[in-house]
Amino acid sequence: MARTLTDFTHLDWPLRADRLVLRPGLPEDAAAVWPWFRRPEVQEWTTTLSTTPEDHQQWWDSTLDSCLVGLLDGEILASGKLERQDAWSQADMKDQAAGQQAEIGWVLAPSIHGRGFGTEFAAALLGLAFDGLGVRRVEASCFADNLPSRRVMEKIGLRLEGTFREESLHRSGRWLDGMSYALLASEYRARQSGGAAERWSSRAVEQQSGGARSGDT
Ligand SMILES: CC(C)(COP(=O)(O)OP(=O)(O)OC[C@H]1O[C@@H](n2cnc3c(N)ncnc32)[C@H](O)[C@@H]1OP(=O)(O)O)[C@@H](O)C(=O)NCCC(=O)NCCS
Repeated sequence: MARTLTDFTHLDWPLRADRLVLRPGLPEDAAAVWPWFRRPEVQEWTTTLSTTPEDHQQWWDSTLDSCLVGLLDGEILASGKLERQDAWSQADMKDQAAGQQAEIGWVLAPSIHGRGFGTEFAAALLGLAFDGLGVRRVEASCFADNLPSRRVMEKIGLRLEGTFREESLHRSGRWLDGMSYALLASEYRARQSGGAAERWSSRAVEQQSGGARSGDT
């Protein structure tokens, strides 16, 4: 899907989740995340493999319009994507479909894997997409073999919408299955009013943004 500018400026930062603190990424964050971002277990499923700090900085800078970072005790240990995108539409509906959905993604430092931080960070990105940006649909995708990421998607309430047979070429040379997950804003709100566990994320956004809701974009 085509990307449009993701404007985070109308939200108040930082956003406090349960344990992580989120804010938009900055150019200087590239160097701070490089020591763990470069590690093989982190890069196994990521799209872009940078092999030098200079390449990493160049790539990082190119992502800044949709980059959010998560800090624990002042250290950046999570990097995420929250990218506003245009929904597909018939050509004559292009303007109405522009910017109506978002894609989210996440990468965490191995030192904090397996302690619920991935789920916490992803839930915060989901809350920001719906409550902060006001999009009507959020999507996320991964290699089918990336079991931790699939589990994170399930735990934040995304729905598996498709498994695509040998759709994606991994840098190992293998063609792997891809998986696509999504959730609608209406479904997210229905779950919130039903007392779902992710309620904290929108509460945090409301506290920080003064109550930005759908349509505030
Ligand atoms: C995906 C990632 C963000 C998960 O972070 P995390 O902090 O470990 O996630 P959490 O602790 O919140 O939860 C992970 C879930 O995956 C499960 N999991 C972890 N490793 C697993 C494995 N090898 N097989 C099956 N499930 C696994 C955990 O058990 C947990 O589920 P549970 O609570 O039901 O037990 C992290 O592994 C990561 O950064 N990976 C490298 C980058 C990446 O793959 N990014 C996503 C690209 S799509």
